[in-house]
Amino acid sequence: MSSRTLVEARESATDARFFDALAEIVGEAHVLTDPELIEGYTRDWTGRWIGDAIAVVRPADTAEVSAVVTTCFEAGIPITPQGGNTGLVGGGIPSAGSVVLSTRRLDSIETVDPIGRTIAAGAGVTVARADLAASAHGLRFGIDLASKESATLGGIVATNAGGTRMVRYGNTRAQILGIEAVLADGSVLSRWTPLVKDNVGYDIPGLLAGSEGTLAIVTKVLMKLVTPATDTQVVLAGVRDVDQALQLCNRVHQSGLTVEAAEIMTDDGISLVCAHTDARRPFGTPSPMYTLIEVSSPRETEESLLEVLSASADLIEDATVEPGPARKLWTLRESHTESISASSTTPVVKLDISVPLSVMGMFIESLREVLTERFVHVRPMLFGHFADGNIHVNLLDAEPSIAHELTDTVFELVSAHHGSISAEHGIGRAKSPWIALGRTETDIAAMKLIKSSWDPRGILNPGILLPETVG
Ligand code: FAD
Ligand code: MLT
Ligand code: ZN
Repeated sequence: MSSRTLVEARESATDARFFDALAEIVGEAHVLTDPELIEGYTRDWTGRWIGDAIAVVRPADTAEVSAVVTTCFEAGIPITPQGGNTGLVGGGIPSAGSVVLSTRRLDSIETVDPIGRTIAAGAGVTVARADLAASAHGLRFGIDLASKESATLGGIVATNAGGTRMVRYGNTRAQILGIEAVLADGSVLSRWTPLVKDNVGYDIPGLLAGSEGTLAIVTKVLMKLVTPATDTQVVLAGVRDVDQALQLCNRVHQSGLTVEAAEIMTDDGISLVCAHTDARRPFGTPSPMYTLIEVSSPRETEESLLEVLSASADLIEDATVEPGPARKLWTLRESHTESISASSTTPVVKLDISVPLSVMGMFIESLREVLTERFVHVRPMLFGHFADGNIHVNLLDAEPSIAHELTDTVFELVSAHHGSISAEHGIGRAKSPWIALGRTETDIAAMKLIKSSWDPRGILNPGILLPETVG
């Protein structure tokens, strides 16, 4: 691959002063233009999108972010904000002519307040680091996801990430108390009140959650922390179908136990994970599906769980119970994403949907039927956070030429079951053509109005989320 120096980039740029201005703000070492150095910022985790950028800029604090954004605003250069680049819908991948604004250097943890149970930290702090900082005070971060070593706080806010603890603590939006963000013209917005009750006007932090870098660049967040559950127990149970898993989860819930996580997997998924990791199959006789449920209780969790399980022999084919953290059982679930990517012959078509719990079984059945009838060579792999109605539909070995038709088929089915085309990953590039399946015309018009008033020049992540660039 040819290598391009900053000097060469300056010469070829429409206006060399633009690059000089960026280098003056963040330092020359933090304006990357060499294709080899920027490659990791222009490709997404799934291998589905390869973008292009004129530079990657890495500011160190809010003032530098503001100055970089002002420079881009004045030059009319589009910006793609990027955190850990673990997004699964292509939202952090730049299109030609853009600058990637990497937030990874905004990585300071300012405070952990054990009384107010909050953390104040830069947008580039990873979820794993935030959780570690909370643990030092006997607390935990309320969002947990398999990408936590790389996914950043700014990224989870921008995508409104869910994850495995959502059933217990809610999504990222539910954890935000305060936010600092740089707007499209470079001005700095700070809504920073550590108050649980504060009803003054519009919910700006809530609006920025899920905005996917199209309205502002998040620079700092103030987020809730949670008290960790003690005496957790994890059950992995083989079940016939998702309806049995839902019934079992209901019985666990009704027994007074607190559901900390509730996941579903298929036998194909377990086989794939066992083939790609050193995990071992849980039971001698396979079941069509498996549910992993983590529970807690103020006392005697194990006894209470065993009672529910023995009263649920009608639902369970086999089961194993382990005290938390039960890493071996969780590995079977958390290794799904990597194992699926590694075993597909083509980039996986990853669709993250939700449907009402009452029709989840019917949806899965119809999905399997339609895929078997129309897409014989495609291997479906389903798993996800079923208690939130969220199923990750992964379609393996699909030729890229049929990806659009496949997506269309699945989304039509989701829509027919009154579901959502994005449960937790966002819309990004992957799903913007289908946004009308989830929102009315007036709703989309209202979103465009917000976009055009916050970003009149359309420089923040154009082409992401909304079907057309608003400029
Ligand atoms: P990026 O990928 O860098 O960016 C994602 C989007 O946010 C882009 O649109 C980008 O422009 C925007 N953005 C990033 N930072 C900022 C900022 N500071 N200001 C404004 N916009 C910004 N997601 C879930 O919801 N639940 C899961 O359980 C889950 N598990 C995962 C497991 C694996 C193995 C992987 C690879 C991904 C998983 N994801 C999951 C998806 C992904 O980790 C999340 O979407 C995460 O929130 C992305 O964070 P990031 O820092 O990597 O963001
Ligand atoms: C998960 O729940 O593991 C993630 O959302 C990642 C995925 O969908 O692959
Ligand atoms: Zn998920």
